[in-house]
Amino acid sequence: MQTQNENMSLTIIILAAGAGKRMKSSKAKVLHSLGGRTMLQHVIDTSRKLNPKKICVVIGHCGDQVRQEINDQGLCWAKQEQQLGTGHALMQAQHEIASDGMTLILYGDVPLTRVETLRNLLSEVGDKQCGLLTVNLNDPTGYGRIIRDIKTKAITSIVEHKDASEFQRDICEVNTGIMLVPNEYLHQWLPRLTNENTQGEYYLTDVIALAVKENIQIKIVQPSYVYEVLGVNDKKQLADLERIFQLENANELMKQGVSLADPARIDIRGSLLCDQDVSIDINCIFEGTVELQSNVKIGAHCFLKNVKIASDSTIQPYSHIENAEIGRDCKIGPFARIRPGTKLMKSVHVGNFVEVKNSQIGNGSKANHLSYLGDSIVGANVNVGAGTITCNYDGANKHQTVIEDDVFIGSDTQLVAPIRISKGTTIGAGSTITRDTPENALTLSRTKQISITGWKRPRKS
Ligand code: UD1
Ligand code: CA
Repeated sequence: MQTQNENMSLTIIILAAGAGKRMKSSKAKVLHSLGGRTMLQHVIDTSRKLNPKKICVVIGHCGDQVRQEINDQGLCWAKQEQQLGTGHALMQAQHEIASDGMTLILYGDVPLTRVETLRNLLSEVGDKQCGLLTVNLNDPTGYGRIIRDIKTKAITSIVEHKDASEFQRDICEVNTGIMLVPNEYLHQWLPRLTNENTQGEYYLTDVIALAVKENIQIKIVQPSYVYEVLGVNDKKQLADLERIFQLENANELMKQGVSLADPARIDIRGSLLCDQDVSIDINCIFEGTVELQSNVKIGAHCFLKNVKIASDSTIQPYSHIENAEIGRDCKIGPFARIRPGTKLMKSVHVGNFVEVKNSQIGNGSKANHLSYLGDSIVGANVNVGAGTITCNYDGANKHQTVIEDDVFIGSDTQLVAPIRISKGTTIGAGSTITRDTPENALTLSRTKQISITGWKRPRKS
């Protein structure tokens, strides 16, 4: 279906067939994750922003694994059984290329190309022209060099590092591999590529020399940042790009007004939305979709995944919160664990070593020390004493605990679910409560305290 600004003439082909031996992993290279998404997913997501008619991924090494992980997404796939070079890779997808329009070639292991740069390439290049993204590197070793005419400075060809002369190796302008070619020409040129070179590979880059021979103009565009065209071959390069990506995230947040204790120590592996006056201390990890409303403070070393936190709440250090909703003016942690299905209303306190799972806790209620609240509904203004545990699991099934408003639960209480603690109940410390309690009464279950005088402690014999 055609959307409004779909670019009906654009096909994007993502090359992702390479082995990635230097990753030293059983996982396909392009499936390694950067900022919580696979590298290939980054390239797919960027491609989508250009609204192409078609995105085709060329897979080969670990191809089934790649296809399974990426799982359709409306893409088309081409298989390159043997990796005989970038030109050969494109030949495997040639049947996906229409007779007219343009094809943009991207790489599954070059994850951080900005969409602005690609848009720039698309807008610079006319119908009957080719486009090439190049970059100047201090150390161009290993890359294909851009050879230009001495007089006109126009590009004449790309020479691979391994095929380059000493003189050519001094050239610092290199091929990023990203190019835009009219389909009409691709269909003419791909069958003409040969593997007569040092590596015995079909080089896609040879289409540039063919274009020159046929007097087709080649527009050269450069990215704003070198990282946009860096590829990943090993874990070190992946880690380097991860830091670049995270620093970009951090800079963007600060631009929006978020206070970061250290922009070099934050990891966002999804999307983080922040209102005004949010502050985030060091070493926090955000996964999935996290939303922090105004004046939320996140302490050091917190992990938040799919969480929404309403304004004025504070999450103290070392808290772990997942699939939960935190209301306004709450105080969580330090060392709190809030598990999936939890919803805290307004001004709730969840203190150290408290675990809450699949529970709702009402306005102004507190569980400040060493507790487990699971599968429970807690009303307003409840005080859960230290060490209180909901016994929600009987070994086979989970059961619910309901604690109504204004309940006070003494320390070290076990609430054996299913159970209802009625409004205004006070539970004496150290109780094991197995039956529902009446409203506004003191309920306790203890053996009577006795003292044995004259009792002697055992001694070592
Ligand atoms: C290629 C370019 C080089 C450029 C460099 C930029 C060619 C001939 N050379 O070199 O000019 O400077 O990229 O990084 O194009 N791939 C396949 N099938 C293959 C071979 C490669 O899918 O048969 C994929 C790889 O998975 C990778 C990409 O193409 O994503 C580039 O392959 P790689 O071998 O890294 O290319 P280079 O030799 O470095
Ligand atoms: Ca190669």
